[in-house]
This record gives sequence, structure tokens and C-alpha cells, in this order.
Amino acid sequence: MRILVVGASGTVGQAVVAQLSERHEIIRAGRTGMDVQVDIMSEDSIRSMYETVGPVDAVISATGGAHFGPLTNLTPALNQIGIDSKLKGQVNLVLLGLDAVRDGGSFTLTTGIMMDDPIRQGASAALANGGVKAFVHAAAIEMPRGIRINSVSPNVLIESLDKYGPFFRGFEAVPASRVATAFEKSVEGAQTGQNYEVY
Ligand SMILES: NC(=O)c1ccc[n+]([C@@H]2O[C@H](COP(=O)([O-])OP(=O)(O)OC[C@H]3O[C@@H](n4cnc5c(N)ncnc54)[C@H](OP(=O)(O)O)[C@@H]3O)[C@@H](O)[C@H]2O)c1
Repeated sequence: MRILVVGASGTVGQAVVAQLSERHEIIRAGRTGMDVQVDIMSEDSIRSMYETVGPVDAVISATGGAHFGPLTNLTPALNQIGIDSKLKGQVNLVLLGLDAVRDGGSFTLTTGIMMDDPIRQGASAALANGGVKAFVHAAAIEMPRGIRINSVSPNVLIESLDKYGPFFRGFEAVPASRVATAFEKSVEGAQTGQNYEVY
């Protein structure tokens, strides 16, 4: 398959690329470097990426930012970051990428455990995760040409504990390779409308 991985340089993205590149052609996308550049917060940038890349069998999004901070300090502007990036950015990868995906292809987006198992300072990211999960669930029944759509919801990654460990005390961190396996299931399996929990 020809697979576009957005956020390929990240912790999740690198694991996904490592897992899928043995058997598939991977096109790596991100804001800097990579095979093709994209900022998922810009519709023009997403359109330009798809024009550059051409037809693919699968689009994987392993990206999307959101603000972490105490709820009492969460302003509408800070909350908007997760809406514009993790929620709208990923949804726009689907809306603007439908024509780029071949018949029977797939989209796989990223959510995250904190929508199901809340942590302090995570309300805005949880909002974005929940929106992505709901979009995937509902969009699946209307996807054209046999195209499937799923999301992967990782627990905190072992590889990210240096950065996020203090937020996730008591959580059983998972290896990035397990998260990559869920993306593999989404791309190569037959299911649609799923949110694969890697908890
Ligand atoms: N790591 C964890 O423990 C964990 C747990 C649960 C969920 N998640 C979710 O998994 C996803 C990836 O997390 P990660 O830890 O792998 O992140 P990461 O290591 O920070 O990597 C983020 C990737 O996304 C790209 N990126 C960032 N902003 C972008 C934008 N506006 N447009 C296009 N590409 C952009 C980055 O490329 P550049 O550097 O070039 O910008 C990089 O390739 C996120 O949605 C995160 O919430 C992560």
C-alpha cells in the first residue's frame, strides 16, 4: 500500500513508520523536514500536501496539539488550540483528503486516553479527543467508495514518560510499538468507525 503518515517525525509517528515501512511505501509528512511539508492548521497547506503526494491507500494522522493547563487558567483562546489543531486539523485531513484516497482505502486519526480516564490539566485535550472519536464514529457510515475511518487512542507512551510522566502518575504506560500495531490493524484490517484503545 501507499501510506501517507502525517506527524511522521513524532514519537507515535516514528513507531508507525517503523512498523509499516517493511511492507508498504510510506510518505512522511510534518511541519518541517520529511518527504512533504504540511501544517494541519492550514486548509491551503493540507490541499497542497495532497496535490503533491497524489493518490494513496491510507492516510494516518499521528499528530494534533492541544493546551495542557489547569482548568481555572483555561481561556477560550488557549482552548481554541486543541480545537484548531487536534480536532479540526485532523478532521480537515479527512474532509480535504477524500479524493486522494483510493477506493477501499482508509483514514486513521489519533485521540488519547485522557478523554476516558481524566487527568489534571487535560480538559482541553480531552475535548479535542472526544470530538475526533465522535467524528470518526459518525463519519464511518457515510464514507464513500468503501473508504474506512478509525482512530487510535493511546495511553501515555513509555517513550514519552520524560515529558508527560508527572501528568500520568498511576497510568500503565504502553510501548509505542503497541500503539503502532493498532494503526496497523486500522490500515490493514476491515473494521471502520472504531476507536482502538491501547490502554
Ligand atoms: N506521546 C504520548 O504519550 C501520547 C499519548 C496519547 C496520545 N498521544 C497523541 O498522539 C499524537 C502524537 O503525539 P506524539 O507524542 O507522537 O507527538 P510529538 O512527538 O510531539 O510529534 C508530533 C508530530 O506532529 C507533527 N506536527 C505537530 N504539529 C503539526 C501541525 N500543525 N501540522 C502538521 N504536523 C504537525 C510534528 O512535526 P514537526 O515537529 O515537524 O512539527 C511531529 O511529527 C498527538 O495527537 C498526541 O496527543 C500521544
